[in-house]
Amino acid sequence: MRYYTPLRYPGGKGKLAPFIRQVFVDNDLCDGIYVEPYAGGAGIALELVMMGYAKEVWLNDVDPAIHAFWHSALNDTQSLIEMVQNVPLTIDEWQKQREIYMSPGRKKRLTLAFATLFLNRTNRSGILGGGVIGGLDQTGKWLIDARFNRDGLCERLQRIEDHKHHIQLTNLDAEDFIKATKFPKRSLVYLDPPYFKKAQRLYRNHYAEADHARIAQLVQQKLKTHWVVSYDDAPEIAKLYKERRKIRYALSYSAQTKRSGGELMFFSDGLDYPKTNNPALFNRRV
Ligand SMILES: C[S@@+](CC[C@H](N)C(=O)[O-])C[C@H]1O[C@@H](n2cnc3c(N)ncnc32)[C@H](O)[C@@H]1O
Repeated sequence: MRYYTPLRYPGGKGKLAPFIRQVFVDNDLCDGIYVEPYAGGAGIALELVMMGYAKEVWLNDVDPAIHAFWHSALNDTQSLIEMVQNVPLTIDEWQKQREIYMSPGRKKRLTLAFATLFLNRTNRSGILGGGVIGGLDQTGKWLIDARFNRDGLCERLQRIEDHKHHIQLTNLDAEDFIKATKFPKRSLVYLDPPYFKKAQRLYRNHYAEADHARIAQLVQQKLKTHWVVSYDDAPEIAKLYKERRKIRYALSYSAQTKRSGGELMFFSDGLDYPKTNNPALFNRRV
């Protein structure tokens, strides 16, 4: 069972989970805390807590829609499950959910949470502001329901409720989150910030170059626990982390078309990591 998260995510890092699990074991972090300041689909976090590697996972995301989804998944699970079971998978419904996502106004959190999940599962590559699978005329090879497996989604939601006492959630800017959080000694922070190059197209929240530089400084100078950072491969980013050990690898992802994205991963000093040249292909069972 590899996919614990109900969210498909552009650039989702679920396939790095076996690698991060190994990092957890090799550094004697089992039963410690795993933290994602840029949680998104949180695929690795759910795997670590559901497989019993992490005692707790702390998720943070600044995007109100992503936060609403996780909040309802944790605190209003049965309502979300009921909505997943009953929602019509039609273009009319898609238009309705898109309208909610685009201008949530003062709608209930559960309403925004469901719109987020619905669009994530019915849009191409899970891009929330993007187009519907199969197009508005529904003539494509794959149609609106191609990724909306009701039973599978409900199982994943149920599993989240089952583990909710081990999952903490916040809705802060990552920088504020890092500054405000006291990390226990046995913890690992995995930072997966918005991409340097493609961010604007994929996500609603993105960083300018100065933001990446500020985060790099904060992480390397102030974060007093183990950490891992991943990015798309860009010389500007390599320069920001030039003093740290790194791996350069290929993560294939699907954003409109299947491609292979070059990625960089950096490690805090003293953190052991498996000697592999591609964490995305690492598959050792630990
Ligand atoms: C690259 S994605 C993370 C993907 C995630 N690792 C996964 O596997 O699904 C970046 C996430 O960071 C969030 N984000 C963007 N800017 C942020 C900020 N300043 N503070 C916190 N979260 C932010 C976005 O909403 C998005 O969910």
